[in-house]
Amino acid sequence: MIEGKRSAAQAALGEVRDGQILGIGTGSTVAIFIEMLAERVKKDGLRVMCVPTSYQSAHLAIERGLKLTTLEEYSTLDLAVDGADEVDRNLNLIKGGGAALTREKIVDSAAKRFVVIADESKLVERLGSRSPVPIEVIPMSWKRVANMVKVLGGEARLRDGGDRKDGPLVTDNGNFILDVKFGEIDDPRALEFELKRIPGVVEVGLFVNMANAAYIGSERGVKLIERKS
Ligand code: A5P
Repeated sequence: MIEGKRSAAQAALGEVRDGQILGIGTGSTVAIFIEMLAERVKKDGLRVMCVPTSYQSAHLAIERGLKLTTLEEYSTLDLAVDGADEVDRNLNLIKGGGAALTREKIVDSAAKRFVVIADESKLVERLGSRSPVPIEVIPMSWKRVANMVKVLGGEARLRDGGDRKDGPLVTDNGNFILDVKFGEIDDPRALEFELKRIPGVVEVGLFVNMANAAYIGSERGVKLIERKS
């Protein structure tokens, strides 16, 4: 699995050019990408600046000597590189396993090109077959959102901060996460739309029609899935 993550990150690194403004996602695969990017910046003297999608990625990037910037300074990014919990063959995604889905959606959608890096275990025939859909919600609304999601066929669970006794996980934006099991999803775009209409929902971890390409890594190498249109 780690080999798959490494080879996917390495392949995405091949897309980085001098002078670019990069979006950097969150998660263990992106952490590998950040390490590789920092090494390349040192070795080749690349001048890149990064917009992070979480405190986790920001801290790692700073520690490794990468330069950070913001969407206020650069509202369009050249390239965003991010992980995923599930990727289907149309490049639709489930994201948010690391609770960073809202900032990820903002940053990934601001890039001219958005590339996913994942090991092959993330590739699915249909979204929802393995992972729940994470939804970021305003804390006071969580119970009501959980009830409303039931009507759409979802079974919601409030994510805790590691251990149930720690209480709910709090996102970088001060919100809660509901992990909602839908089973296999027929129409991810319609579901995303329905969920976003519920008052209290900040963002939904369904990324439909956003990614331009995905590098799927395994011990056997990397497969590139590229958007056709
Ligand atoms: C973070 O909120 C997520 O969207 C991650 O990008 C996703 O969970 C993938 O993480 P890993 O690379 O750790 O599997």
